[in-house]
Amino acid sequence: MADTPQPTNAVRKVRKAVLPAAGLGTRFLPATKAQPKEMLTVVDKPQIQYVVEECVASGIEHIIIVTGKGKNSIEDHFDHAPTLERFLEEKGKHDQAAMVRRISDMVQVSYTRQKEPLGLGHAVLVAKDLVGDEPFAVLLGDVLIPGKNPATKQLIDVYMATGVGAIAVEEVPKEKTHLYGIVDGEAAPQPPFGARLLRIRDLVEKPKSDKAPSNLAITGRYVLPPQIFDCLERTKPGAGNEIQLTDALRILAEEQGLWAYIYDGVSYDAGDKLGFLKATVEIALLNEELGAPFREYLKNLKL
Ligand code: UTP
Repeated sequence: MADTPQPTNAVRKVRKAVLPAAGLGTRFLPATKAQPKEMLTVVDKPQIQYVVEECVASGIEHIIIVTGKGKNSIEDHFDHAPTLERFLEEKGKHDQAAMVRRISDMVQVSYTRQKEPLGLGHAVLVAKDLVGDEPFAVLLGDVLIPGKNPATKQLIDVYMATGVGAIAVEEVPKEKTHLYGIVDGEAAPQPPFGARLLRIRDLVEKPKSDKAPSNLAITGRYVLPPQIFDCLERTKPGAGNEIQLTDALRILAEEQGLWAYIYDGVSYDAGDKLGFLKATVEIALLNEELGAPFREYLKNLKL
């Protein structure tokens, strides 16, 4: 069992985030045959823009997107679009031109390529040189956590206060633990985080409900010290012959300590068809312009 997590790094600001977006998105075929799932639109923005905006709202200064084959539209989306901007300006659509410009100007974005989809852990490892020797956040490019209290910022606060890495977890129904990475954690309340903070004893990938140590599932947001790269390098391919981030996190938890943090918010796995539909409906209901008429439409729906 790991002892109380101890900081081994002088606590440094979390400036960078890695967004793995190189997976094949097979759960969303045929939509993902020729376009990245991270570019599928939820209401009016591609999924990955929500994730980038969460980074910006969390104070991240440099985003590293891990892309792969067929993912060029992600780069295009965050690039300048001079022809489009000029066209909109000439038509007097200044607000739209400014909105388009803001997408490319909101933060520094770098890209690196995972040549083969060898797993989430491998995708994070591919970003090693761009991250360097500093703590960083990881956000899955297809997990959306809307709301005013960004999950990544919550994890950064835990890291800054303790100097120890933290991963976001949330409660899932006990009978669904086999769909998630599940945390074996021990309550370790401390101000100002209270009972949301748990010390990770172990992580179990997709346990059946009778074997699950808890119903706290890993959510797709992480703040990690640079030592995770060394853990990833020592991680052998696991399930599906992929290098699993969870396996490297187990090493990190054992050697350096790691927090699970029951974050405040709701996540949507928008890489899954049902999760995508839920995200679409709920984010549309929160939309300033569309929320009220959409709610009215849903109320009157006769099916
Ligand atoms: P997922 O398991 O959701 O992605 O990984 P996937 O493999 O594309 O999905 P399915 O199961 O085939 O539908 C979570 C995140 O990690 C990225 C994905 O792009 C996604 O954002 N990922 C996954 C990589 O970058 N590389 C990989 O080798 C695997």
